[in-house]
Amino acid sequence: MDLQSCFALILAAGKGTRMGAGKPKVLRKLLGSPMLAFVIAALEPLFQHKLLTVSGHLAEILETTFPEQKFIRQTEQLGTGHALITALPALRKANATHALVVNGDVPLLTSAVIASFMEKATGADIAFATITLSNPGAYGRIVRKDGEVTAIVEAKDYDSALHGEPTGEVNAGLYLLDLEQIAGLLPGLGANNKSGEYYLTDLIGMGLDAGLIVRAICCGQDQSLLGINSPIELAEAENLLAERTVQNLLASGVILHNPQSLRISPLARIDPGAEISGPCEIYGASLLSAGTEAGPYNVIIDSVLESGSRVQPFSHLDSAHVGPDCIVGPYARLRPGSKLESGAHVGNFVELKKTTLGRNAKANHLSYLGDSEIGAGTNIGAGTITCNYDGKNKFPTRIGEQAFIGSNTALVAPVEIGDEALVGAGSVITQDVPPGALALGRARQINIIRKK
Ligand code: UD1
Ligand code: MG
Repeated sequence: MDLQSCFALILAAGKGTRMGAGKPKVLRKLLGSPMLAFVIAALEPLFQHKLLTVSGHLAEILETTFPEQKFIRQTEQLGTGHALITALPALRKANATHALVVNGDVPLLTSAVIASFMEKATGADIAFATITLSNPGAYGRIVRKDGEVTAIVEAKDYDSALHGEPTGEVNAGLYLLDLEQIAGLLPGLGANNKSGEYYLTDLIGMGLDAGLIVRAICCGQDQSLLGINSPIELAEAENLLAERTVQNLLASGVILHNPQSLRISPLARIDPGAEISGPCEIYGASLLSAGTEAGPYNVIIDSVLESGSRVQPFSHLDSAHVGPDCIVGPYARLRPGSKLESGAHVGNFVELKKTTLGRNAKANHLSYLGDSEIGAGTNIGAGTITCNYDGKNKFPTRIGEQAFIGSNTALVAPVEIGDEALVGAGSVITQDVPPGALALGRARQINIIRKK
């Protein structure tokens, strides 16, 4: 197969009526990411930029979720065959000779399965993958005569009297098409079926009638080709994906405790030598380097942990960067834009947002640090709050190196605290503090001797 002129086409325009309203089905999440993200991740290593996606139902939401992808709009969702007809001009314009067409609701798909399918499909005008299920459910049934495929018949249209007893062999929704050959067939597609839709699957029977080379690639019980059409199938696929990811991580040298309770996205990168205890959720573009530890009951999303860092239980990290040898938690919250430099500590009930904590700086107890920069070696006392919001706008707080902020201090931004400054406990700081100064922003204590 000449990959140069083969494009991948993801069909993702459908309504997904069995999955409820509100968002396109392919945006329903597994392990923290939309199902379409997994299909794209499986295709990208093979196709790079030669990847098109058909959007339609709630297209804008879909397209803005994947700003890097190229979309073709199918304004009316008249079926998978109609989606292909809609995409054909764009494929031809891109000089594609072949298209690997894949349903967008097959998130367990892997690059290896696609590569092996394409190898077996080489030379056919129309090739498609089949799987065998004990319960074929709503999948399109493969009809064979004397062992040879004659058609795919959709579940709704299947008639045992006409098509024979179903065997459990079904269409997986993965096709390799010679565009030149199928372009001649597409005008003949009709919607004369129970759904009133243009079925891509009708191309199989039509191709055979036209004398094309039509090949079924049997993938047995390969779970990576399961489609998702209902909440139950979504939950099952999510479990399978979690199990598969855990097995792959163990095999690669990652240390996992209580592995059956772990939910780790295959989109995250966990290096051999990282150690994770379940239950724990690690999603998105997270990266845990060798020598990092994530304890139980943590949620880590799109976050990086550099070597030697430890996230203790019950912490929540979202789009945070934890440098080497840091300690986070227990019960810490790192919101987007949090950055910990080497050796920094963030302890219990400390929340960071768009904040950099410098080398060896510490905020160990009960604090909110937002829109702030905190220098190396500085200690943030328990109960320190950066008051960064005046009800309309956000303002920055800058604290220099080796400073000491006493407990229960309110830093009213915008404000700057110099290097080695000392802020007395219980202060409300509204003015900048020069380097090395002691700032006291609180009422002086008076002791009144009471009459007996
Ligand atoms: C489809 C196949 C079925 C196969 C199953 C495998 C058809 C007619 N049937 O059924 O043989 O066993 O997948 O999972 O193809 N879509 C569009 N535009 C549309 C309609 C659908 O882009 O107008 C997209 C959907 O978003 C989805 C994919 O095509 O990602 C498949 O559609 P879906 O409705 O899930 O088809 P199935 O009933 O699962
Ligand atoms: Mg489907």
